[in-house]
Amino acid sequence: MTRKEFLSLLGVGGASLVVSACIGGCSKAENTTAPSGIDLNLDLNTTYSSLKTKGNFETLKEGIVVAYGLDGKYYAVQVSCPHGEGGRIQYNQSLQKFRCDNHTEQNFTTEGVSNNARTSSNLKTYTCTLNGSILNVKG
Ligand code: FES
Repeated sequence: MTRKEFLSLLGVGGASLVVSACIGGCSKAENTTAPSGIDLNLDLNTTYSSLKTKGNFETLKEGIVVAYGLDGKYYAVQVSCPHGEGGRIQYNQSLQKFRCDNHTEQNFTTEGVSNNARTSSNLKTYTCTLNGSILNVKG
């Protein structure tokens, strides 16, 4: 009996074998790298006008999340969660902290310090400087 005949007896096609093998073994480590060499100018009067409202945040394609905290200060941290399971960092208004969207018990102060729920790694932070309506994010 050939392999193909054996599999057809079981009612299992080759493609489903590949899929089931990948479910158990194809997981890959998520990128947790924090961007560096960042120097961005965000125009709060146009593209990033949502950042004029306290409690809002924007996720930038550069891999950074910028928040206008309820305390009236701007904060920026890396988007990729250092826990490494695909979480993205968001600003949570009620906590007034950054929080992972994958494991929501994991949060970080606005200074990027972990609460150690899932990871002890802190977030990389970026300096935010407001010049008129331009918010510079650097780090
Ligand atoms: S992926 Fe963020 S805490 Fe697990």
